Amino acid sequence: MCGIVGYIGTKKACPILLAGLSRLEYRGYDSAGISTIEKNGLSLMKDKGRVKNLSNLDGIDNLEGTIGIAHTRWATHGKPSKENSHPHQDNSQTFSVVHNGIIENYNEIRKFLTDSGYNFYSQTDTEVIPNLIHFYFSKDTVNDELKFLRAVKNACLDLKGSFAIEVISKLYPENMIVVRQDSPLVIGTCENEKYLSSDIPAILSYTRDFYLLNDLEFVVLTKNSAKFYDINLKLIKKETQNIEWNASSAEKDGYDDFMLKEIYEQPIAIRETIGSKISMDNKCEFDELPFTKEYLKSLNRIYIVACGTAMHAGLSGKNAIEKLCKIPVEVDIASEFRYRNPIIDKKTLCIFISQSGETADTIAALKLSKEKGAKTLAISNVIGSSITREADYCIYTHAGPEIAVASTKAYTSQVLLINILAIYFAEILENCETKYLNKLKNDILALPKKIEETLKCNDTIKDFSKKIYQEKDVFFLGRGIDETVAREASLKLKEISYIHSDSYPAGELKHGPIALIENGITVISILTDNNLVKKTVSNIQEVITRGAKTLVITNQELDKNMFDIVIDIPETNCFISPILSVIPLQLLAYYISKEKGLDVDKPRNLAKSVTVE
Ligand code: AGP
Repeated sequence: MCGIVGYIGTKKACPILLAGLSRLEYRGYDSAGISTIEKNGLSLMKDKGRVKNLSNLDGIDNLEGTIGIAHTRWATHGKPSKENSHPHQDNSQTFSVVHNGIIENYNEIRKFLTDSGYNFYSQTDTEVIPNLIHFYFSKDTVNDELKFLRAVKNACLDLKGSFAIEVISKLYPENMIVVRQDSPLVIGTCENEKYLSSDIPAILSYTRDFYLLNDLEFVVLTKNSAKFYDINLKLIKKETQNIEWNASSAEKDGYDDFMLKEIYEQPIAIRETIGSKISMDNKCEFDELPFTKEYLKSLNRIYIVACGTAMHAGLSGKNAIEKLCKIPVEVDIASEFRYRNPIIDKKTLCIFISQSGETADTIAALKLSKEKGAKTLAISNVIGSSITREADYCIYTHAGPEIAVASTKAYTSQVLLINILAIYFAEILENCETKYLNKLKNDILALPKKIEETLKCNDTIKDFSKKIYQEKDVFFLGRGIDETVAREASLKLKEISYIHSDSYPAGELKHGPIALIENGITVISILTDNNLVKKTVSNIQEVITRGAKTLVITNQELDKNMFDIVIDIPETNCFISPILSVIPLQLLAYYISKEKGLDVDKPRNLAKSVTVE
């Protein structure tokens, strides 16, 4: 949710921190702040609003310090305001802290500290952290080199909830201490410098070598060292990981918005997802997975668990796994799954899909599944993210960094990867004709070109967006696999254009929702399944009769005169048709949002990575 950055090195920290915050702004953007270690103690500058406001504050250019921490906020506790902005300090202004996450027991800690004489100036949960550090620091009579670390550790052990924190102190002008629990934080390292960030793309332009932290590993940083400690303050060894993403993939590269760039990156992203997993002569390859025929045959069900767009990708996974492997699949929303006492045992495989790999509900659902004895498999886009480290096995979409809050290329690469996984399972199970699977593989290999073809609808969609951007309600219809795309398209439109929209299985319309159809309303339908096309056309006919304006996305032969606009997309296998049919609808959401003059990449109330419950 919030974004944190840090720098410790030889250059002025402030410009580096501000640049990092701008790149992380998609994680939260209602206030921002910075604290550096200056000759006369800790600086502290913060303000409500975007990072731009912070950059314009008087005196910010005078900050000279080469160590600093910074934060861009997505408010949870306390409204967006200067007082509630991070960094927060203890009463004696000895420690500055930035925090991403939620401290669930902050009320108890705040009461304890208030009773001990501490004052609070914000409504945040975070303000307890610097004061608690100060509490432990001042009680510690041993003045050794671990005193600062001990205070941070003792404070963290009192915290319940999720946190990634960075701490600096005026008493330790060479150091920064960082730790995380269930919230993301990475450390980029290069000669004489350390860069910290909530995620990798924000600091990719400085380094490719990263330390990835596990929960409750405490790190003491200087500009040329990183010492890692476990919870007992025993030193632990940690290797860096080299991240292959290139820095320009985290820049806009001439596009107006990240979302448009990411929509246009889909041919490359899909090529990367295919990678070397599919070749026509051989079976699908997942070297990282150990599944045997006996194990897959023993499964009584598979759960696919995720949130939002990732859950929609899961729905196409259900379609493919059930049809190709004949294993029952249930798709669950992670926030529901974790509290509904799902039936899980050793014969259950649980698959978790998460672009960021940091979504709190998905991680909690994963932990629950492990506790109940299931094998867990994560599908993520972010190497080393929490979910990939928590799961028994993990496979990557390799779509490259996705910055826009609205997910586009991550969705299509998730749909593809779970379909390849289904083929892989089917090949192990030997219960599907090789010829049939080969045809599907062929269709997958042809996808990048077909995506390029599909993107040619850009101008037609842009024109159509001009006609409907002032609508109050839009409906999306589809059957079977097309219904999963209807859901995704509806979510996309809501989140970036703020137009109310709903999606329905086309056949369900007459059981209630058709009451909402009135003259002039926009109904968008997806028709890619040859077996269902006639049925869906009949349902569209029902809304046309009631005066609806219709847009149809199809790869079928239809009587086009029936509809107001038809977008033809290339023909492909039904399993993977969402990868093409969603593209015009991603573009539609994008252009409507532009037409309304909204901030496409940072829609209101949302954040890219939902690391709180
Ligand atoms: C996508 O457009 C959304 N912003 C959102 O639904 C997202 O897919 C969801 O929060 C899950 O995120 P994850 O894939 O990082 O877990």
